[in-house]
This record gives sequence, structure tokens and C-alpha cells, in this order.
Amino acid sequence: MDYMVVYSSKTGNTKKIATEIFSALPGMSKDMQSLEEYKGKDADTFFIGFWVDRGTCDMSVIEMMSRLHGKKVALFGTCGMGKGERYYKGIEQKVKVWIPDDCEYLGIFLCQGKMPMQIREKYEISREDPIQEAWRRQILKDFDEALFHPNEEDLEHARKFVGQILM
Ligand SMILES: Cc1cc2nc3c(=O)[nH]c(=O)nc-3n(C[C@H](O)[C@H](O)[C@H](O)COP(=O)(O)O)c2cc1C
Repeated sequence: MDYMVVYSSKTGNTKKIATEIFSALPGMSKDMQSLEEYKGKDADTFFIGFWVDRGTCDMSVIEMMSRLHGKKVALFGTCGMGKGERYYKGIEQKVKVWIPDDCEYLGIFLCQGKMPMQIREKYEISREDPIQEAWRRQILKDFDEALFHPNEEDLEHARKFVGQILM
């Protein structure tokens, strides 16, 4: 098979991106499975999706990636914070390190994804320390912004990402 899309998604954001990536992939030699469904189906190129959990991907994604050998691997993910390029670069570094050396890393696509309301509630109480207070306000801002993601623009960017990878 040419392409395999495998994703981990707790609340559906990453699944949405996975579905878009899957539909943008050309031909019929492709499949998409969640990590729970995935039983080792082989392909030349893997698109691996994850949700950001405390700055990196969850363990199940690491385990899956570590077993790949001689494959082309592209990553995609969603995260709550919209801190931009630097934050995204940090996530990329932490996740791609788990791709075995005999695989070819093709690149990453990241976008924001809405977060569970419990996260907002955790940061709603104001702090006396001005540094913590500024940080808290930023998280609330990110939370509210993330409520609208992934949006149409994110899906468009995901499709473009596939185009770039396949060029
Ligand atoms: C336990 C937990 C930890 C999280 N950690 C982070 C984080 O470190 N950075 C971040 O930007 N978003 C974080 N998020 C937000 C999720 O990555 C984000 O909402 C993502 O889109 C969820 O994807 P899913 O719907 O595919 O599960 C966290 C969410 C949860 C529930």
C-alpha cells in the first residue's frame, strides 16, 4: 500500500485533520485507522497524527512510531496553545525524535484544536504573582481562540501540507 494514516485523537480534533489528510491523498492505495484500530498494516508512507499532551505526543504514538523501519514518515497534530512557530518547533523536536533513524522524516503539520472546558476552569482563578498572572491570561486567551479550531483554514493548510509532502 502507498499511504497509511494513523492517528491518536481523544476529542476528535486530530481525527478531523486525519480525515482531511486521508481524502487529500491520491489514488486508492491508502487507508486510515485510529491507533486503537491499528494492528500493523504496512505502507510506504505513514502520516501519523497526535494530540499534544503536556508538550509532546502520547506514549501510544511513540510506541507505534518506534516500530516503523525503512518508511517515509510525515507527522501531523493538534494542540490547544496558539503560541506560533517557536512553540510548534519545540513540539516537532520532541515528537520526531522517536522516528527510527532508518525512516525518512518528511515534515510536520500542526494547528490548534479546542480543549476540554475543565482546562479553562483550572485557569480561571486569578493569581497574585504578576508573571503567573500574565501566563494565566495567555492560557485563557489561547483556550478561547482554540474553540474555533480546527477550522476551514486549518483543513485547507492540511491539504496543502499533503501537496507539499508529495511534490
Ligand atoms: C491532558 C491534556 C494535556 C494537554 N496538554 C497540552 C499541551 O501541553 N500543549 C497544548 O498546546 N495543548 C495541550 N492540550 C490540548 C490538546 O492537545 C488539544 O485540545 C488537542 O486538539 C486535542 O486533540 P484531540 O481532539 O484529537 O484529542 C492538552 C489537553 C489535555 C486534555
